[in-house]
Amino acid sequence: MQPHNQILATGHAVPERILTNAELETMVDTTDQWIVERSGIHQRHICEPGSCLSDLATAAAQQALGAANTKAEEVDLIIVGTVSGDMKFPSMACLIQQKIGAVNAAAFDLSAACSGFLYGLHLADSLMRTNDYRRVLVIAAEMLSSMVNWQDRNTCVLFGDGAGAVVLGPSDNSCGLLSSYIKSDGSHHALLFNPAGSQHPPSHENIDSNLATINMAGREVFRHAVVSMTDALHEALKRADLTPDDLDLLIPHQANIRIIEAIGRRFKIDSSKVYVNVDRFGNTSAATIPIALNEAITNGRIKPGDTVGLVTFGAGLTWSSVIIQF
Ligand code: ACO
Repeated sequence: MQPHNQILATGHAVPERILTNAELETMVDTTDQWIVERSGIHQRHICEPGSCLSDLATAAAQQALGAANTKAEEVDLIIVGTVSGDMKFPSMACLIQQKIGAVNAAAFDLSAACSGFLYGLHLADSLMRTNDYRRVLVIAAEMLSSMVNWQDRNTCVLFGDGAGAVVLGPSDNSCGLLSSYIKSDGSHHALLFNPAGSQHPPSHENIDSNLATINMAGREVFRHAVVSMTDALHEALKRADLTPDDLDLLIPHQANIRIIEAIGRRFKIDSSKVYVNVDRFGNTSAATIPIALNEAITNGRIKPGDTVGLVTFGAGLTWSSVIIQF
């Protein structure tokens, strides 16, 4: 059997500025109580206007490379999951490549919204098997604050900014990425979207008509999130020949505490085994899972030998799950 690929090290970075629910109360018609009860979010980190997301992603990548004792020149491939890169083009991956000095790498972005990181892991694992890549950086970075309509209470209370990164390499034992699964359903694309693009290019008129901000049908998205994440985790566990009881920790996409709890209940996984940090970071889209992963490794929630399930859901619709033994 082919050896597995393993996460050798992780890193994350968030902007310093914290936006509290109390501050949001002064911006839109909302309350701390509503936000906490409906989403579990107490605060989120937000980039200052004019700041550069690739700087945040670079900090996360450099932290992961340092922890993996890997030089930037050793990196063969950089994949960045993002929908909020510095520019339309070139890719964030190329900008980060230049900033870290990964002169020997190929680099590209991947658009799968909140599923970008797990899609990236799936793709990296596949490419490592066919291209003899030895060191791959998978990064997820988002600045959704740059596309939130700050007058829309339905969405502006939910999102935050941040970046996470992992270094992948071949495993020297039986541990590593045991299975992965990705899936999409474009027929529901209108439930969660940002219309800015070639159909609605930047113009005063389009921007004034809110054609450059996030639109979301929250209740429907919620329902699809639970169904899709259930499908993803079920399929990834099946592919790894494991049951939910085999998981030492589950890291679900951090969009809403009620979605996270619903997934835990469906798989009968005790809440002590479900990682939660949505209260401190809000929904950082593709970055939620690598941020949580880095925290869980750093604070000892993930120990060598542990089996960890990652599961996500995002616009597209897209959904994915990865099972890893550390
Ligand atoms: N403050 C106060 N009231 C609010 C707010 C707010 N910030 N936002 C909405 N409301 C109101 C609504 O207007 C509505 O009022 P009405 O009944 O008078 O019309 C009421 O609260 C209930 O609204 P619902 O949308 O039914 O509330 P719900 O319990 O569904 O919670 C939420 C809304 C938090 C958005 C929830 O639906 C959710 O989390 N959905 C999933 C969102 C998500 O996960 N998105 C991202 C997934 S993919 C990715 O990460 C990019």
